[in-house]
Amino acid sequence: MEMKEKNVFVMDHPLIQHKLAILRDERTGTKQFRELVSEIAMLMCYESTRDLPLAEVDVKTPVDIAHAKVLAGRKMAIVPILRAGLGMVDGVLNLIPSARVGHIGMYRDPETHMPVDYYCKMPADLEERDVFLLDPMLATGGSAVDAVSRLKELGAKRIKFMCVIAAPEGLKAFTEAHPDVPVYCAGLDDHLNEHAYIVPGLGDAGDRIFGTK
Ligand code: PRP
Ligand code: URA
Repeated sequence: MEMKEKNVFVMDHPLIQHKLAILRDERTGTKQFRELVSEIAMLMCYESTRDLPLAEVDVKTPVDIAHAKVLAGRKMAIVPILRAGLGMVDGVLNLIPSARVGHIGMYRDPETHMPVDYYCKMPADLEERDVFLLDPMLATGGSAVDAVSRLKELGAKRIKFMCVIAAPEGLKAFTEAHPDVPVYCAGLDDHLNEHAYIVPGLGDAGDRIFGTK
């Protein structure tokens, strides 16, 4: 995992990079695309949870007592930004099965590219949880910036943002708005086009996950 700047991490693990290359390919169909998003999310979750605190425990094995370590009882929540963030939920839940799942619904207005929020349902005790916000794409940054602001208004204290591909424009907007929130991405791309799509990117993540157009 490479730190690009303070609180911005690019996942350079070979498995993640390999899967990302297939994900980007326009020939990759919906089924494989969905599987890959989930697998990448799982690998990103593994990397981005390296700093979770541990507690020491003694475990009785069939042979003797082992001085072992377990997660230090931190509660977690994962929050996908609808729709495309849903594709990352299973992968993260595979590793953190006890996490609660909140949802934030947002879509970009096709003309203005500004996020429009349409749904929000969170676990009641959000302020006690480590929150992982999930969205495959950070383009202008509008959706993720607003989603984090919403989570903070609802009391979230520790938030990490996990995306698959980030554009420099979105990263700048995000780190300026929320310098306290670490961003983890698998690819840091070149720029946005006139439709605010990431170049080279992978196209429309929601459409590719759900087979819509
Ligand atoms: C996509 C993507 C992000 C957002 C990123 O969602 O999943 O949520 O765009 O763009 P931004 O950084 O410029 O805000 P979209 O609006 O296409 O909605 P969908 O997931 O419902 O397809
Ligand atoms: N949303 C997407 O799904 N793809 C982009 O390139 C930009 C925003």
